[in-house]
Amino acid sequence: MRVAFVGKGGSGKTTLSALFARHVASRGAPVVAVDADINQHLALVLGLDRPPEPLGAHLGEIKDLLRGDNPRIPSADAMVKTTPPGRGSRLLRFHELAAYEHAVTTSEGIRLMATGPFEEDDLGVACYHSKVGAVELLLNHLVDGPGEYVVVDMTAGSDSFASGLFTRFDLTFLVAEPTRQGVGVYRQYRDYAADYGVALAVVGNKVHGPSDVDFLREHVGSGLLTWMEHSGAVRAMEQGRPFALDDLEPANSDALAVLLKHLDEQEKDWARFGRQAAEFHLRNARAWANAKTGVDLTGQIDPDFVYGP
Ligand SMILES: Nc1ncnc2c1ncn2[C@@H]1O[C@H](COP(=O)(O)OP(=O)(O)O)[C@@H](O)[C@H]1O
Ligand SMILES: [Mg+2]
Repeated sequence: MRVAFVGKGGSGKTTLSALFARHVASRGAPVVAVDADINQHLALVLGLDRPPEPLGAHLGEIKDLLRGDNPRIPSADAMVKTTPPGRGSRLLRFHELAAYEHAVTTSEGIRLMATGPFEEDDLGVACYHSKVGAVELLLNHLVDGPGEYVVVDMTAGSDSFASGLFTRFDLTFLVAEPTRQGVGVYRQYRDYAADYGVALAVVGNKVHGPSDVDFLREHVGSGLLTWMEHSGAVRAMEQGRPFALDDLEPANSDALAVLLKHLDEQEKDWARFGRQAAEFHLRNARAWANAKTGVDLTGQIDPDFVYGP
């Protein structure tokens, strides 16, 4: 199962991605965590000294691996972030993704990969896309099942909407602080999610008391799944003190369990994945990718390919 944490900068995406990944790992399940946020911070919060080598630095290799013997994709140059798998493509099982050579392993056994740091110049231009593009390609070629978890720490920006990355998950958690700005992102995301049949749940964060919960309920309504309280244990971790999952306040541990239960309850919809992979590829091909590669990429969609296991 694949889950994304999205939200405004500072809302707690990285913190919640890390806590959730640790919670899942503590239950004995295999976890791949992916840092696709603008500020690459997940490695640190997962207790590593340094981030893994960026996926963006290996994009060519990733494309060559995934295109396999697909005759519709003659070279890595003809493969863009939305190029969908077809017959001959190399699909990845979860354990193959987890074994990716440039991922690193945390002390809790979580496999972490990262898109790589974003330069100021990357924002809104091709480079930026190509970095997150590696994640989109991997997710497009991943055949995962229940009991296997991919946790992606992501921004809630327009870039993931343009590329279709936001449709590549079984569930998206929108992290929202109980502030007007915090819930503001929700409306935009909710509308996109509804248009594309994307499962979305709001997780309140840094909640200080009942009036914060009331605020979230008022603005998010039934979209609110659960919330995390402002955590002294998280703050202590940020201050450099040792942190173990057991240090987390009981209410916050319970909230993590609610997240996992909700994710496990989602039904995989391979037909939707396949339909939307084609849809976003056509759109990107016509908007920029045909011009960039000099090839008509719409021919990469294989009408006889069936998405899924
Ligand atoms: N539940 C929480 N309790 C206490 N501090 C929190 C909590 N969630 C996040 N924080 C703190 O808020 C700051 C921003 O969180 P972070 O996860 O980096 O946000 P984002 O990834 O969305 O930009 C960090 O200093 C983090 O430790
Ligand atoms: Mg972050």
